[in-house]
Amino acid sequence: MKHRQILRAAAAFTLCLTATTMMASTATAAPTKGKVSVLNWWTSGSEAKSMHILQQMLADQGYKMVNDAVSGGGGSNARTVLKSRIQSHNVPGAAQIKGPEIQQWCSTGLTMSIDALAEKSHWDQVLPTAVSKYMKCDGHYVAVPFNIHRTNWLWINKAVLAKAGAAMPTDWDSLVAALKKIKQAGITPIAGGGNTWQVATELDAIALAAGGPDFYRKAFVDLDTSALSGDDMIKSFKHLRTIQQYSDPNAQGLSWNHDTGEVVQGKAGMQIMGDWAKGEITNANATPGKEIACIAFPGAHTGYSYQSDSFEMFAHSNSDQNAQYAFARTALSPKFQRKFNKAKGSIPVRQDVSLKGFDACAHKAKKDFKAAEKNNALVPTFSQDMAEKGAVKGAIFDVIAKFYNDKNMSAEDAAREMAHRVQQAQAMS
Ligand code: BGC
Repeated sequence: MKHRQILRAAAAFTLCLTATTMMASTATAAPTKGKVSVLNWWTSGSEAKSMHILQQMLADQGYKMVNDAVSGGGGSNARTVLKSRIQSHNVPGAAQIKGPEIQQWCSTGLTMSIDALAEKSHWDQVLPTAVSKYMKCDGHYVAVPFNIHRTNWLWINKAVLAKAGAAMPTDWDSLVAALKKIKQAGITPIAGGGNTWQVATELDAIALAAGGPDFYRKAFVDLDTSALSGDDMIKSFKHLRTIQQYSDPNAQGLSWNHDTGEVVQGKAGMQIMGDWAKGEITNANATPGKEIACIAFPGAHTGYSYQSDSFEMFAHSNSDQNAQYAFARTALSPKFQRKFNKAKGSIPVRQDVSLKGFDACAHKAKKDFKAAEKNNALVPTFSQDMAEKGAVKGAIFDVIAKFYNDKNMSAEDAAREMAHRVQQAQAMS
């Protein structure tokens, strides 16, 4: 291209860009009432779509939501970014933080109370206590919950099961029998194992099914040494080794949402993952509960490991306070609760919102949640930050990674090391 042609092309490009920008800014009303920046780790297709719903609803009210999304399933990267942003005085208006970590942030004195809003909108009445208790520091609301996710799910491609001549699993033995048949049919039985967070999510579901809610609570919430090193933990590690043997040997580095795609496409039979996988299934135009079955991870016990995605609000942030309030208010509005949770795969955290139009798996989730609440079978999920604080979680994850990477490590050694490392982490924190 000659020099003049290049200049002409550049001018045309600039013109085109200006026109596009103008079109974009006239399409949605320019936000005038202030902005809120929101740090989160929702970057998969369904996660980004779900967040866009909030961005749009805020834009419709005249607020700008800056979506600061940091990739990495489970949020480890987003947590690091939050710390460094706080150190450099670039504090977001809201950040995705869950469980006991919400209280830890309160002790820094950086959080903002949203009591006035919570009171006005009756949050104490519409939220389950299992969730609202995490949103408060010393009785004051500092975080807003978006949803309830269940961790202990098993997603199964029904066509793969039929092709392999396997039956729908109902307990551990029938699950292993199904995995064996899928392998014999030449299909990867389990998609997963790409990183420690995924493997911890698998062990989370396995432990609840193998040992039951009482064991789970003793081990992961009370951090009881004999539960951490005892028979149920040993059994859980043994089951994890079996699952590993049926998992994709080339999974290293693959994301959870890539794995969900493998199950939807029939390249793998199953995935052990929380119901954020359901968001991806829907996003891929499959129907959860129809082509892809959803069952609680099978074993000797039933239970419900839950977690709530929530956003902690920060004072002295880079955001406008009225926009921060609009963010929290809109997130718990019935309209957003329905739209968002349908796209995200979770169920509404507001108990007064109807599930009309939600898929069969969401209905099952809600029914099971209610039953678990009643039967004391609801447990805060350890792999998704609901059970313990950073250092202890780090110790548990380290042992899981060591066990998964060293096929010669016995389940007994892993359980013993788990108890030891947790004790150490507690002593140091
Ligand atoms: C979050 C989900 C998210 C998943 C994968 C979980 O810890 O709670 O909302 O979709 O991580 O990123």
